[in-house]
Amino acid sequence: MDGVSFDLRSGETLGIVGESGSGKSTTGKTLLRLTKPTGGSARYRGRAVFGSDTRELRDFRRRAQMVFQDPYSSLNPRKRLGDILTEPLVIHQIGAPDQRQDRVVEMMRKLGLRTGFFYRYPHELSGGQRQRI
Ligand SMILES: Nc1ncnc2c1ncn2[C@@H]1O[C@H](COP(=O)(O)OP(=O)(O)OP(=O)(O)O)[C@@H](O)[C@H]1O
Ligand SMILES: [Mg+2]
Repeated sequence: MDGVSFDLRSGETLGIVGESGSGKSTTGKTLLRLTKPTGGSARYRGRAVFGSDTRELRDFRRRAQMVFQDPYSSLNPRKRLGDILTEPLVIHQIGAPDQRQDRVVEMMRKLGLRTGFFYRYPHELSGGQRQRI
């Protein structure tokens, strides 16, 4: 990728359009530091993303995350949906430990996945349900 430049304000949505292989995913991955940038700069709320240290990077990743193109390969087939969704709350220490499960159940409900789905595995979902998870 070369010569990419854009600003995004709070509440805005930006669509990046281009032919297959032109670098859209690479742009996203680089912004999240999943791919190492070779140059340039990015700022999130005024702070440099590319220069951030480990702690700043962890903080940034609480707010900026990827929804991968292929939900089949990004969900661990051996884990139940409830555990998959609880894991980031544990890693980022979000919410009290005994409230995390309720939070996940509530989020699943908002996505149209009733409580029973908590104990299901990724292969038991439709494509759209898997994408929402
Ligand atoms: N890990 C990698 N190592 C080497 N080259 C890569 C790697 N990942 C992607 N590429 C190459 O970089 C270019 C951009 O890929 P990218 O995945 O960003 O495309 P894209 O715009 O998201 O395409 P699509 O619309 O098909 O998802 C492609 O030519 C691809 O082959
Ligand atoms: Mg892509």
